[in-house]
Amino acid sequence: SAPVAIVAAMHEELSALLAQMPDEQRVRAAGRDFWVGHLHGQPVVAVLSRIGKVAAAVTATVLLERFGVRAIVFTGVAGGLAPGVNVGDVVVATQLLQHDLDASPIFPKYEVPLMGLSRFAADTAIGDALAAVAEETLRDPVALLGQEAVDEFGLRSPKVHRGLLVSGDRFVSTAAESDALRRNLPDALAVEMEGAAVAQVCHDYGVPFAAMRTISDRADDAAHGDFARFVAEVASRYSLALASAWLAT
Ligand code: ADE
Repeated sequence: SAPVAIVAAMHEELSALLAQMPDEQRVRAAGRDFWVGHLHGQPVVAVLSRIGKVAAAVTATVLLERFGVRAIVFTGVAGGLAPGVNVGDVVVATQLLQHDLDASPIFPKYEVPLMGLSRFAADTAIGDALAAVAEETLRDPVALLGQEAVDEFGLRSPKVHRGLLVSGDRFVSTAAESDALRRNLPDALAVEMEGAAVAQVCHDYGVPFAAMRTISDRADDAAHGDFARFVAEVASRYSLALASAWLAT
């Protein structure tokens, strides 16, 4: 059967997963390495998109046109926006929106011009399955990350959230900017820089898309340092655990 794509922006978000693909073959395309192989016996193409909406969109297009993937799952980290979406929690998107898209007054703010749409729906079946494996995985954070990391990041009982994920070509690293996002988009759970772009490409192709993100920071004045520590130390372990548990179901 056709492979599924597992995509992250940065190496630090996918390194543990790439290390678990025993038979992967590297295929170069569009200046990227696509790792074609298996995970849990399932055909997979894993790739690093690099950061931002354009990088993510071109990666998605190559996955669809050249590798014929049957679904794209984006993983990695995000900044928490909604109250209670804390470092170490997992967000599984139900909808995705580009928070930096504004062609008003010609089109409503956030609407993708000529598509009449601002929110792209994520695939429900894949999202349900990812949320279920995330619930299971987060029940024992020590088994997932080790006691030291659990203590360092203060992960007491990490939670799974489902809802709106917003994307834009900005690393949100001030309380003023995250306050503005919360005000403008009160139901946004978290912010990152790729998901909604891939959701738009997958919508154009009619291929299922899902996004699962671990919260690395709160998109506030401490975001830069929190993000750097989280991606350096634990981000890829979440991606590996959740993707492999999902593929094993
Ligand atoms: N990814 C992780 N944290 C983020 C933030 N604060 N802003 C944008 N993308 C992020």
